[in-house]
Amino acid sequence: MSDTQNTSPNYARHLLRYGRDFAPDLIARAEGSWLYTEDGRSILDFSSGQMCATIGHNHPAITAAMVDAASRVLHLDSTMVSRDVVDLAERLVALLPDPLNRVQFLNTGGEANEAAIRLAKIVTGRHEIIALTGSWHGTTSGASAATYAHGRRGYGPTVPGALAIPAPNCYRCPMRKSPDTCGMACLDLGFEMVDASASANPAAMIIEPIQSAGGIIVPPDGYLARVKEKCRERGILLIFDESQTGLGRTGRMFGFDHEGVVPDILTLSKTLGGGLPLSAVITSDDIADRSAALGFSHYTSHASDPLTAAVGLAVLNVIESEGLAAKADETGTRLLASLADLQSRHPVIGDIRGHGLLLGVEIITGEGDKTPGHALIERLTKRAYALGLNLNKVGGPHSVWRFAPPLNISAGEIETTLEILERVFVSET
Ligand SMILES: Cc1ncc(COP(=O)(O)O)c(C=O)c1O
Repeated sequence: MSDTQNTSPNYARHLLRYGRDFAPDLIARAEGSWLYTEDGRSILDFSSGQMCATIGHNHPAITAAMVDAASRVLHLDSTMVSRDVVDLAERLVALLPDPLNRVQFLNTGGEANEAAIRLAKIVTGRHEIIALTGSWHGTTSGASAATYAHGRRGYGPTVPGALAIPAPNCYRCPMRKSPDTCGMACLDLGFEMVDASASANPAAMIIEPIQSAGGIIVPPDGYLARVKEKCRERGILLIFDESQTGLGRTGRMFGFDHEGVVPDILTLSKTLGGGLPLSAVITSDDIADRSAALGFSHYTSHASDPLTAAVGLAVLNVIESEGLAAKADETGTRLLASLADLQSRHPVIGDIRGHGLLLGVEIITGEGDKTPGHALIERLTKRAYALGLNLNKVGGPHSVWRFAPPLNISAGEIETTLEILERVFVSET
């Protein structure tokens, strides 16, 4: 089914369709890794909602933090902050390497990336922004101009200065090379194109340590370090968008920990609020001070909201006290091995990749034929849902599932998932 044919269920009669079809069922309740529909079905949620509920749906620590915050203070003038806001900034900075030590809290990932882009523009005095093909950074104007996964057509010109370079997709190499010998030619070509087309050196490059919406693209070892080097050579600021990869999801606290490359600006969102709208943009004293001196202004009505800060603290407490980054690493390693076994029996699984519990499973038409299995993945996804497993197919032209269950998913729930997947492949292929 194409993304544009509307086959949404009847309940959605008065809902504006903002992307793909609405799901068939109304959800009455959610808990841990499970969703419960109004008509009494249980569905194992292998995407943590929209990749946000990393500590599980409706974790009691989140509920308690909300109740407590609601009894104190919900909302303030944007220049007033509560103790929770200060504490959350301190906790995040303590987890991060130097020089990332100044935080602004916002609500969505798009807003945090918008702030990051505006910070980069004001401190460099430049306007061009580099991003990877296949990227998704949000739907506000600056973030959407740096978004190439889908959703660009039909809205007229984007913010001027949007430059794309090829994503390092080693399964479908944009240079038609082999990862062992390519020497990251896609990155070199990308920057040659930037040098040729930019009006001056760009303000920033924005990149996810693992690109999610582009199909779970894991860059080759050393890629992020080379990106940083190329940015440094040109005075370009490096923004890591860790909306999805931050806070344990990839088996490390941050996605950049896999390579030890520290950005100039970091954004966090989905995994920080555990299901509530909380995002952060984090930078150095130097960038913060320079931007303030230049009059940086990025107010929103809900900047530094007390309630979501209290939730962010609860989420961090659970991630740290339950060792969820390490757990994601262990569970993800075991899951990758089981998926490799599944792949050996079902050749329509073309590729499996990722780290921790952010894994991509690429569906192709058949053995030896890497043609994307668009119709097949739609069928497989529907069948899995009918059997009680919610799988997220990444948007746009990809035939890739994004496996991103809660980090505390149990071994039994992983077993159930694998059993359903086996049944789905047997019945549909
Ligand atoms: C990597 C990344 N950045 C930014 C965003 C945008 O976040 P939001 O939808 O909260 O604006 C997303 C959303 O999917 C994302 O995956």
